[in-house]
Amino acid sequence: MEFPSEPFKIKVVERLQKTSREERDRLIREAGYNVFRIPAEKIYIDLLTDSGTSAMSDNQWAGLMLGDESYAGSRNFFHFEETVRSIFGFQYVIPTHQGRVAENLLFSVTVKKGDVVPNNIHFDTTRANVEYHGALALDQVIDKGLDPHEIHPFKGNMDLDKLERTIKEYGPERIPLVMLTITNNSGGGQPVSMENIRKTSELVHRYGIPLIFDACRFAENCYFIKEREPGYQNKSILEIARELFSYGDGCTMSAKKDGLVNIGGFLALNNRDWAEKVTNLLILVEGFPTYGGLAGRDLEAIARGLKEVLDEDYLAFRIGQVRYLGEMLKDAGVPILEPVGGHAVYLNAREFVPHIPQEQFPAQALTVALYREAGIRAVEIGSLMFAQKDPETGEVRYPKLELVRLAIPRRVYTTQHMIYVAESIAKIYQKRDEIKGLRIVYEAPYLRHFTAKLEEVD
Ligand code: F0G
Repeated sequence: MEFPSEPFKIKVVERLQKTSREERDRLIREAGYNVFRIPAEKIYIDLLTDSGTSAMSDNQWAGLMLGDESYAGSRNFFHFEETVRSIFGFQYVIPTHQGRVAENLLFSVTVKKGDVVPNNIHFDTTRANVEYHGALALDQVIDKGLDPHEIHPFKGNMDLDKLERTIKEYGPERIPLVMLTITNNSGGGQPVSMENIRKTSELVHRYGIPLIFDACRFAENCYFIKEREPGYQNKSILEIARELFSYGDGCTMSAKKDGLVNIGGFLALNNRDWAEKVTNLLILVEGFPTYGGLAGRDLEAIARGLKEVLDEDYLAFRIGQVRYLGEMLKDAGVPILEPVGGHAVYLNAREFVPHIPQEQFPAQALTVALYREAGIRAVEIGSLMFAQKDPETGEVRYPKLELVRLAIPRRVYTTQHMIYVAESIAKIYQKRDEIKGLRIVYEAPYLRHFTAKLEEVD
């Protein structure tokens, strides 16, 4: 297996603080066993997210100086718009300050109470935004995508039979749009194949339903298509992206991922009516249509980032670095989700800490151990994030997977950092019996994992 070395060198560095085991023990207790509540300066390796944590290039930093901060008609907007159109191909480009605002704006004009929005797997903000509008968010990924041991090149694929059954069950008039998340973050950063995208597009369009991509990690998805799908080996990432988006009617995008920036996003659409309604709402809640909650310089950085992310040397290194971490963990016998996805390695908490029952948040317990033992911050993608109480029966529905995501920021950490992470987790695995379950002492009604407080169960 190939792990290409970094296709960049380092011009600016940022000091990292190391903390003692005792200090971390105190900090995690004070944080209510929730790593979102720990000051970032007290983290050694921060794998909480790959979102908004990228290192920008010298070219992007130079672009910031060319920011045109005019309220209306900034030149950076036109560069941004032209770049988005040239890659994604959609007609109307609406900037937002991050991805979830694009989701909120889109659903505000398309989704009404009682509607149904299928996706391969909704990301947490997408699900919350669908539900906030009174609609049902359904996950329809292939069954293999939910099995942490199944080796399949495109575990993010939509299950076309499930999707067609859903359309027939609820009726196309109750399904304002179907989404496809590329890559499928909540299912392990797994890609969707071009064939599956094409077939999903054919199916939904047959029923007159638009297809909208959640395009956060589109370039990583395109790299997997090039690597794994017959017929794409000799195509450029740009060509693959253009074909992929040609099957859809629009996308929501968090540029904080494959835009290689620290803030920004957009909604891109072909439907003029939707675009007009969204734009009117944008003015109310985000800003004028040529900046949408961003500074001119941010738009410039996104335009440059979107071009850089298509670079195959970058993508080969990026996907290779994440894969390398996964291989080291596998060699140490640590249970991970396979195959390794594009932006993160996912620890399989059910197998890592089998002594902790699901109602005691095994993945969160493991997240706490990674911080306490090694100063590594990861994120729980399990019961704390997804378990839901049935509003009628009060019964709790648990997610199938209990994962701890080690998301790798883009262009930020070196290979030596990855070795530190792998060795630390291997050590924790050796004494996994000592890890304790947790119970909630405070939770918010939506997206509770961000602010919840917990305590250890003895
Ligand atoms: N869709 C997906 C697939 C995402 O992964 C995210 C964010 C969003 C939408 C929302 O974008 O944060 O810019 O509002 N994911 C981050 C993560 C937070 O850590 O995976 P946003």
